[in-house]
Amino acid sequence: MPSLMVESTTKMLDKWAALINSGSQEIDVEREITATAGEIIAKTSFGISYENGSKVLEKLRAMQITLFKSNRYVGVPFSKLMFPGKTMEAKKLGKEIDALLLTIVTARKNSNEGCGQKDLLGLLIQENGVDGRLGKKLTTRELVDECKTFFFGGHETTALALSWTLLLLAMHPEWQNQLREEIREVTGDKEIDFTKLAGLKKMGWVMNEVLRLYSPAPNVQRQAREDIQVNDLIIPKGTNMWIDVVAMNHDPKLWGEDVNEFKPERFKDDLYGGCNHKMGFLPFGFGGRMCIGRNLTMMEYKIVLTLVLTRFSFSISPSYTHSPAIVLSLRPSNGLPLIVTPLTISNGQDGPRTEKKSPPPSTD
Ligand code: HEM
Repeated sequence: MPSLMVESTTKMLDKWAALINSGSQEIDVEREITATAGEIIAKTSFGISYENGSKVLEKLRAMQITLFKSNRYVGVPFSKLMFPGKTMEAKKLGKEIDALLLTIVTARKNSNEGCGQKDLLGLLIQENGVDGRLGKKLTTRELVDECKTFFFGGHETTALALSWTLLLLAMHPEWQNQLREEIREVTGDKEIDFTKLAGLKKMGWVMNEVLRLYSPAPNVQRQAREDIQVNDLIIPKGTNMWIDVVAMNHDPKLWGEDVNEFKPERFKDDLYGGCNHKMGFLPFGFGGRMCIGRNLTMMEYKIVLTLVLTRFSFSISPSYTHSPAIVLSLRPSNGLPLIVTPLTISNGQDGPRTEKKSPPPSTD
């Protein structure tokens, strides 16, 4: 799995080098990284090509936008009737996505490797041990639904975490250099050794700080299964609750007056980053429904960032406009163009290691 991540990322970085050689230094890193993360989830979890994966992802993205426009009134009676056009469009897209995924699932079931292939789809198709219960088998409908969740949840959030990271590193070149230094110490100027990823401690702090400032999953939902009393407030059974993660992560009462500053060191020796409430930092949710992909994300984040930072430095493009928006996930609504500069090794060629300083940031 990690080698597939390296393969897809290297392909993206080679493309960046070619673009820069042909004279364009500005790259929309969000678009690029989202495509690469899509390729990674398609290959690692479903064993399919990027071409097939991207058909599913394009439709899921269209559905995301459609649903976001029409479903802001979730739980409001008859809300679907308020947006009949969008509701129809979402239904049509839903059917197309189901059909595409059904083709992928059926092809795997009929293939020679069949269910024995050790990726997520192979495990989901296997007859035994699903959900920890021997003999429990997912129906085709359930399989397709699981695939949708993993396809979408498995690439967009990670891609956004990486994209926001590059923005913050472009604004803080001292952190780009600190991370390069750490990478050099941990990998010893060699290829990434996956067993050493845990040693990239500062990169872990940076990831947490990015998830705090620009949480890709901006809210977590729960439904009250019975009446709940919170101080003087009664929350009636059946109430849908949205926990506003972005608001919590920017609350000075929880984090202090420097709440809006990029300070990865707040996570040094503190899993909660100095937050004064243990439920105040929930980038992956909490309890029994906590994100199942968090370890995979951590691995992908560290592999991709290591490869990116050892080949390029970043500063903000004058065409960047800061406009984070919640479209189910927290996205840069006008893309994320950055000025990308290849790092040079002593012979002056584009190369994997640098001793030179990044260019000064342009934050205007
Ligand atoms: C930065 C990356 C990610 C973030 C911020 C994130 C965030 C979240 C959050 C907030 C939840 C809801 C948890 C709750 O309700 O308590 C969730 C659930 C989930 N995530 Fe992630 N996620 C990320 C990456 C991934 C990846 C890479 C995968 C799969 C490969 C994934 C698969 C899932 C699934 C399947 C669930 C539903 C779990 C359940 O309901 O039992 N996520 N994620």
